[in-house]
This record gives sequence, C-alpha cells and structure tokens, in this order.
Amino acid sequence: MEITDLNTVPAPLTFLCLASFEKGHRTLEELKRQGCRVFLLTSLSLRDKAKWPRESLEDIFYLPDQEHQWDAQDMIRGVSHLCRTQQIDRILPLDDFDVERAALLREHLRLPGLGETASRYFRDKLAMRMRAAESGIRVPEFTATFNYERITNFLEQVPGPWVLKPRLMAGAIGIKKVHHAQEVWDRVHAAGDEQSFFVLERFVPGSIFHVDSIWSAGEMVYAIASAYGTPPLKVTTGGGIFTTRILPYGSEEDLALRAMNERVLKAFQLLDGVSHTEFIRAEGDGSYYFLETSARVGGAHISDLIEAATGMNFWEEWAKVEIAAATGRRYTTPQTRKDYGGLLVSLARQEWPDTSSFQEPELVWRMKKKHHIGFIVKSPRWERVEELINVYAQRVRDEYHASAPPLDRLRE
Ligand SMILES: Nc1ncnc2c1ncn2[C@@H]1O[C@H](COP(=O)(O)OP(=O)(O)OP(=O)(O)O)[C@@H](O)[C@H]1O
Ligand SMILES: [Mg+2]
Repeated sequence: MEITDLNTVPAPLTFLCLASFEKGHRTLEELKRQGCRVFLLTSLSLRDKAKWPRESLEDIFYLPDQEHQWDAQDMIRGVSHLCRTQQIDRILPLDDFDVERAALLREHLRLPGLGETASRYFRDKLAMRMRAAESGIRVPEFTATFNYERITNFLEQVPGPWVLKPRLMAGAIGIKKVHHAQEVWDRVHAAGDEQSFFVLERFVPGSIFHVDSIWSAGEMVYAIASAYGTPPLKVTTGGGIFTTRILPYGSEEDLALRAMNERVLKAFQLLDGVSHTEFIRAEGDGSYYFLETSARVGGAHISDLIEAATGMNFWEEWAKVEIAAATGRRYTTPQTRKDYGGLLVSLARQEWPDTSSFQEPELVWRMKKKHHIGFIVKSPRWERVEELINVYAQRVRDEYHASAPPLDRLRE
C-alpha cells in the first residue's frame, strides 16, 4: 500500500516569515501581491518601533527577545500553537540569525526548505570552511578551536597573522585579527566555555568581493558580482567608509567570481532562494578564496544597490522563487538593465548630515538615518560610478565621517 500525505498544499499558499530584526518588507509585500497569506513572527522589542507592511500580513506574532535572540522552545511552542488552526506551507527567515530558527521549525513541522544540517553551511563559518575544502574550493587554512593540539599544530604550520572569528555571528562582530600566537591562546582561554564557538584561520590580505545570486530548482539563475572598497573588517574595526560597486559585466573578475559562486553554492546545495556570498582575492598571487556565504539577501543596502543598477529587487525575487518552489513552477528572472552602481555608507559626526551639496544626476538614493551618511549612484558607465564613489568617499571622509563608536551593525 502506498502511503501518501493527504494534506497536500492547499491554495492559497501560507507563509510564516521570521524577522528578529526589522527587514524584508518587500518580500512580505510581494508574497501578498502574489496571492499568498503571510504571517510574521518577530521580536517583542520591535513592537512599538517597527513599521511592518500590515496590509500585507494576516497577523503578527511577537516573541520575547533578549537583544533579538529568541528562546527556541518558546518559538516551537508558539508556532505549533498557530499550526492548530493554520496550515503553514513555507517558512522564510528574513534575517541571517533567523536562518537556523527557520531550519529548526522546518524540522519540527516537517516542512521543505533548508533543514538543520543544510542551513549550517550558510550560518556556521566552520561548517562553511569544511564543506568548501572537501569540495575542492580554495579557503584560507583553518582549524576548529576544539582541541589544543590541533590549535598548536595550526599555529606552527600556518604563518600569521590569523583571524579568530565567532562561527555564528555576522557583521564582523567579534572578529579579531591576531599577530602573535600567544594572543591567540590568550583569546582562546579568555573565551572559556565559549571556546568551541570560534574558528581560527589564516588572514589572507587582499580585496573582498561579494556575489549576490538567485537560485531556483538547484540552478543559479542570476548572479551579480561586486567589489568592496575598504575591506569590511577594516571598516568595522578601524572606522572607515563602507563602499561597494558592481564589477564590469563580463570582466575577468566578474566571470571568475560568478563561476566560483556557482561552485560553492552547488556544493552547499542551495536549491531555492537567494544568497550573499563573499570572496577574497589574494593580493599576492591574485587567487580567489571563498570567504563566507549566507542564504539571505545581502544587508547594508546591497539590495538597493542592485535594484538601482538592474531594476530587480532581490527581496521580491526571493518571494517569487519560494512560491515557484512551493507550487512546482519554473522561476525566471524579470528583464534586467545592465547599468552600474556604487554604494557608500559611513557614520557621520552630524546627527542629520546635510547632503544637499551632493547633486550629481547619477545620485539616486540618500540614506536617512541618524548619524549616518550614505549614497547610491548609478550610471551606464562603470568608470563614472568608480569616479563618483571615490570623490564621494573623499568628501565624506573630510566633512562627515566619524569613526567611533564601532560600527556594530552597519549592515542593518
Ligand atoms: N581569512 C581572512 N583573511 C582576510 N580577511 C578576513 C578573513 N576573514 C575575515 N576577514 C575580514 O573580515 C571581514 C568579515 O569577515 P566575515 O565575512 O567572515 O564575517 P561576518 O561577521 O560575516 O561579516 P559581514 O557580515 O561583515 O560579512 C571580511 O569582510 C574581511 O574583511
Ligand atoms: Mg562577511
């Protein structure tokens, strides 16, 4: 006798979106626009602050949080309670930290999408390193920090400097560049019982790139490559101005990075969804290293940058990809432009910096956030974007930039 699940997907689709931070409005709106029912689970601390698109939501539920962290059992019980009366088809994590929570819920409710083992490759920097290395993808030499003998061997064999980084954080929080073996040991010991939550690796000097891609049915259907200006770690620790710009389409770097991105995400088995993945190009020999990946839309307004240059919004495309996956349909990207874009974000000394003197016609977006200054420029010419970003970075450095306090969540 064949056993089948009689509860086949009912129409319309019902999505539960998780958002420990406020983001993903465009995904919520697009799901609704496509006829889905959308529930949102978010942090109680955001209740009076967040401006969610209420008209796109069936309901909002709040979980008590400690600085946006949720208790996993509370979450499972709360969502299971909702399931008494609602049939949820898909769970979408809107923030990076929600990726593993979504996985936990999917496992509990037996829903499709990345489960716990699969989602590890997109959240845990040690899991990423190991999986990439096993798949023949170049990564900086690394070690887990479980075992003293392994750490000793690593420090003897791999020349410094090194980086010691939390396996499960984001936004470069807690990442330390370390020059002396003794300092590695001091930090490892100081971490106490948290010691196993780090990964230790060689610092590879070079340029940092990101590839933002869309995946459907196991295929990379779209990918766009960009180059950060100052490496993000320097921005977050030394203060500095965050910039990134889209690479010349079809250039050697663009082709190499998109091909490597495809290899990484095929190895990590991202089937349906979006990814923001980062690479280092070593300043020594120009070789590419896989830095890290994620199963979410890139933060720090990168989706706005891509939208300015291409006309396509990753948050919206993600909604469409998920609907296609749930209904067994084929996803295709909309027609896109191939313009160029550049993004700049910095902390500002001024509470509300006056940016009225920035008046170039290529300027298409200004950041409106206390003590921040930010722009997106776009042009059909890559050289023009490059020129503007450089000029703007210099002006921001001279007239607006503030380096303290540390840019903890610049990527918000
Ligand atoms: N092995 C390495 N060699 C050189 N630089 C590194 C290395 N690992 C990390 N970095 C630097 O630290 C930054 C942050 O590292 P990573 O992307 O792994 O952490 P993150 O917390 O996810 O940060 P973010 O959210 O800003 O991407 C990188 O962009 C890069 O500047
Ligand atoms: Mg990173």
